[in-house]
Amino acid sequence: MSKDDFRQCYGPLALVTGASSGIGMAFARALAQRDLDLVLVARREDRLAALARELMAQHGVDVRVLAVDLAAPGATERMVEALAGGDIGLLVSNAGFGLKGAHEDNDPGAMAALLQVNCLAPLQLSHRLIPHLRERGRGGIIITSSVEGFMGVPYSAAYAASKAFTNSLAESLWGELSPAGIDVLALCPGSTDTEAHDKQGIDRTRLQDMMSPQEVAALALDNLAQGPVYIAGEQNRAMFDALLAMPRREALLLMADNIRAALL
Ligand SMILES: NC(=O)c1ccc[n+]([C@@H]2O[C@H](COP(=O)([O-])OP(=O)(O)OC[C@H]3O[C@@H](n4cnc5c(N)ncnc54)[C@H](OP(=O)(O)O)[C@@H]3O)[C@@H](O)[C@H]2O)c1
Repeated sequence: MSKDDFRQCYGPLALVTGASSGIGMAFARALAQRDLDLVLVARREDRLAALARELMAQHGVDVRVLAVDLAAPGATERMVEALAGGDIGLLVSNAGFGLKGAHEDNDPGAMAALLQVNCLAPLQLSHRLIPHLRERGRGGIIITSSVEGFMGVPYSAAYAASKAFTNSLAESLWGELSPAGIDVLALCPGSTDTEAHDKQGIDRTRLQDMMSPQEVAALALDNLAQGPVYIAGEQNRAMFDALLAMPRREALLLMADNIRAALL
């Protein structure tokens, strides 16, 4: 799709959550390159402000920053109110985080926050923005999910369950919205080279075959009309096809062994 067609369909304004690092930051850069104005959301305001300055200077787009903790009660509601009147044509609900380890060892508060950020935020944001997208008759919703959404993942129980939720949410919304000219995509990255691993205490240098966040975001934008679910990267598709073809009990025990050896 040409830059003009992309802006016509998904512009003039895109909302990107989780834009202070990783895949969300890559989305923001790729969308600014396509001449979309942006609203960038995350907690680390200094990072968002630096990115906004960079994108405004390089691409001449308008960039607004909203420092929001999406785990806070009522956060998405306040955010949508602050954006009232903006012609948002593309929602990139990307903010999210994982928790690794035995389920019983994880902190209940952190698990509740995970569900709020990974599940409730995309649910509530899409709920509030769809009426405007329908009115326009064009636009898109990208929800960053994960390959972990396709089956349970031992030692990543809450995260994998949250991503099963987002895959299902995106599929349902695709069924509702694609006849109205609105694209919906659950982006399912495999291992991607971002801070997400450091935050979970995983040594990034031990991970192999990671994709870059830039590649993942670019693939998502190029395949936005190919919803409802899109796995980024040939080798991730092949790996998950192989796992899904195995008897489920065998696949789960194999993953448990591998993850236990790597993590614990
Ligand atoms: N990296 C991977 O291997 C991988 C694989 C599959 C799926 N994913 C998914 O990709 C998405 C982006 O992750 P990433 O890999 O790019 O990780 P990342 O670099 O850690 O980025 C996560 C983003 O989410 C934001 N965020 C987290 N908690 C938030 C909160 N409470 N309120 C507002 N913003 C919050 C962070 O911003 P602040 O900390 O500034 O708030 C940050 O901008 C996530 O949904 C993740 O589950 C990642």
